[in-house]
Amino acid sequence: MYQIVPVAPGEPQLDGSPLKKKPGYEGRPMVLAGLLGCMLVLAAVVAWCYYSASLRKAQLLNTELLQLNRDGFIIRNQAGAVIFTMAFRSGTVDLDSCSKEKNILRCTRSNTGKLNFFIQTIQPKDTVTCYRVRWEELEDKALVEHAMGCNASHWYGGAELATQHWPIKIQGEEEPRPFITSDVYSKRNSFGGILERYWLSSNATAIKINDSVPFHLGWSEKDRTLRFQARYLDSPFRPEEGQQAVPELSYRVCVGSDVTSIHKIMVRRYFPKPIKVPSPEVFMHPLWSTWALHKSAITQEKLLKFASDISKHGFTSSHLELDDRYTADYGEFDFDPQKFPNATGMFDKLRVDGFKVSLWTHPFINYDSINFGTAVEKGLFVREPGGELPALVRWWNGIGGILDFTNPETREWYSSHLHTLKNRYEITSFKFDAGETSYLPRQFSTMVPLSDPSTFTRRYSEMALPFSERAELRVGYQSQNISCFFRIIDRDSVWGYELGLKSIIPTVLTISILGYQFVLPDMIGGNAYPNRTAGVGENRGLPDRELYIRWLELSAFMPAMQFSIPPWEYDKSVVEIAQKFTELHKTLVAPRVLELAGEVLDTGDPIIRPLWWIANNDEAAFKIDSQFLIGDDLMVAPVLEPGKQERDIYLPAGRWRSYKGEHFDKGPIYLTDYPVDLDEVAYFTWVDSSN
Ligand SMILES: *[C@@H]1O[C@H](CO)[C@@H](O)[C@H](O)[C@H]1NC(C)=O
Ligand SMILES: *[C@@H]1O[C@H](CO)[C@@H](O)[C@H](O)[C@H]1NC(C)=O
Ligand SMILES: *[C@@H]1O[C@H](CO)[C@@H](O)[C@H](O)[C@H]1NC(C)=O
Ligand SMILES: *[C@@H]1O[C@H](CO)[C@@H](O)[C@H](O)[C@H]1NC(C)=O
Ligand SMILES: *[C@@H]1O[C@H](CO)[C@@H](O)[C@H](O)[C@H]1NC(C)=O
Ligand SMILES: *[C@@H]1O[C@H](CO)[C@@H](O)[C@H](O)[C@H]1NC(C)=O
Repeated sequence: MYQIVPVAPGEPQLDGSPLKKKPGYEGRPMVLAGLLGCMLVLAAVVAWCYYSASLRKAQLLNTELLQLNRDGFIIRNQAGAVIFTMAFRSGTVDLDSCSKEKNILRCTRSNTGKLNFFIQTIQPKDTVTCYRVRWEELEDKALVEHAMGCNASHWYGGAELATQHWPIKIQGEEEPRPFITSDVYSKRNSFGGILERYWLSSNATAIKINDSVPFHLGWSEKDRTLRFQARYLDSPFRPEEGQQAVPELSYRVCVGSDVTSIHKIMVRRYFPKPIKVPSPEVFMHPLWSTWALHKSAITQEKLLKFASDISKHGFTSSHLELDDRYTADYGEFDFDPQKFPNATGMFDKLRVDGFKVSLWTHPFINYDSINFGTAVEKGLFVREPGGELPALVRWWNGIGGILDFTNPETREWYSSHLHTLKNRYEITSFKFDAGETSYLPRQFSTMVPLSDPSTFTRRYSEMALPFSERAELRVGYQSQNISCFFRIIDRDSVWGYELGLKSIIPTVLTISILGYQFVLPDMIGGNAYPNRTAGVGENRGLPDRELYIRWLELSAFMPAMQFSIPPWEYDKSVVEIAQKFTELHKTLVAPRVLELAGEVLDTGDPIIRPLWWIANNDEAAFKIDSQFLIGDDLMVAPVLEPGKQERDIYLPAGRWRSYKGEHFDKGPIYLTDYPVDLDEVAYFTWVDSSN
């Protein structure tokens, strides 16, 4: 039997009151009290004198609840507690050079020379105060660095990572490096393909780094800081044309009444929103990719068999995804006649059987492809610096050129090929692979110079726009308004936090906080790559059966489900569990998700939400990375551990009804060792207390 445990004493509820209950005491001699009173008065007088003397300067260096010091600034909340700290690491402010005019505090000298520094206070709403901060070196210093304190609160946001934690875990000492999109599957220590310059803390503060900053991110576990650095030296960032290479660090810090409301304000202000919801079919029915099962050995015959197996086992599909590779060489836009001898016939057959098909695509043209020469002639590639020849790149399928999507002619060429392919075979859409800056050559030039390399990612993501109904991207930078599915990067078929099952909730929550809501959680059971698959020995190369089932169960509560290793590769009972959960996804999850997806267009709010979304004074809720909410009222707690048929579950304050019909109304509580069979997921619905 499981136990119900009230919130642990180590994790008290914050009630917002600075007054703490004191143990009662017996009456004490009046004398003592009198003496104490006198001392207090004396102390107050002394304090007042000091206060008066420093009043002028203090007022100057305070703006609203921000206090500027020579080596940084701190922000307090209304109750006086410090909720945000920033240290100036590259120089200190000469406080004598500071002056205040209306809402702008400005300083003109640092310890090393001339400076343009200001903090401007803005109050966009009664409950919100924002500080625009700008530090611009005027004497050509190499870099500007500020370090944000992370010791006192929990932080979220930034970038997709290979080892993803929720909240952010600062591990080791890391010198600032370019904050640009990268493929974290192959470069495990880089920043991922989806990233934004945005962080949010449990102390209801948020920071957005200005787009114009040549932005490098580092961290220190020892100091508990995130290091924000602006520099051009030894950096892929370039000054805008006609601008001097003086580094400038500017950002906006906003403080609100609670974490959820400050996040909502930041999202509405800083992230573009999608203009439509992708196809409801993709939310309702699983999509089926050929990748994990067949890899690049896919053929016409195998695809037809895959489709007939889906029907035979009683599954539905939004569409099939014909992945790598169906072309003769990489960079072509038609079928390899060896592998697909009758593509037209194949698509006719699939259509008659009720299947839609999307195709894999990518930004590369390999040197041995028939399109390579054409693309060189037309100047469609990213080029060598200063030259007109393509700069070759190595990617996971060979060597070739990468298309320059800043060039309108390239965009036209690429998208007309996709359109032709689509029309010729009545393809439903495309899976846009890659797009990270890590596949750009080390030195390169593009038609429109990239002052921020990740702009390349944004230009590539825009190629998905005409196909957005069922298109899938794995990269995004300021791309929240591309109304298609954003896939988290390939997962290994393992249990852990490094691209394994446990990384899915932290990753989905992170990209949701970054404004990407139509999330595709990649393939159920992971990619089954050799050497990166748990239990591979026992299962003919298949991922561990239990891992597969737990993955399937988690996916059923995500916005969309994607199969690749089919359940019938295991056994009958796995097929039954898969049927149960695709049905539950369709009837319980998808309708709710679609409703929330509609709201995304207005609000940008996450569909998949962290527990603190509805419990934003609850210290325990800030740390939970194995449970999540769909909207505000459906809470999911999947089993993510091997060999477990039970788990601990945290229920935030409120009344909850479990999927088994139990009621819990004395929240917040921990349910310890709550039993969850292999074919079950624990989920709870919020019970409206007015009912
Ligand atoms: C956080 O770090 C700052 C600066 O290092 C320090 O002043 C402050 O006391 C720390 N706060 C906590 C809660 O540890
Ligand atoms: C800041 O957040 C931490 C962690 O959630 C919490 O312990 C602390 O009380 C918060 N401080 C304020 C002033 O809200
Ligand atoms: C942010 O960058 C824009 C240009 O992208 C610039 O106009 C603006 O002044 C910057 N904001 C601050 C606070 O420096
Ligand atoms: C291609 O497939 C279609 C439909 O199955 C069939 O009618 C046609 O004869 C096939 N063509 C060739 C060249 O095999
Ligand atoms: C997306 O938003 C960006 C920045 O606001 C804007 O420049 C771009 O045109 C938008 N794109 C679409 C497709 O709406
Ligand atoms: C990883 O896979 C390669 C072949 O792809 C094999 O030679 C090697 O032994 C494997 N290593 C481990 C640790 O399984």
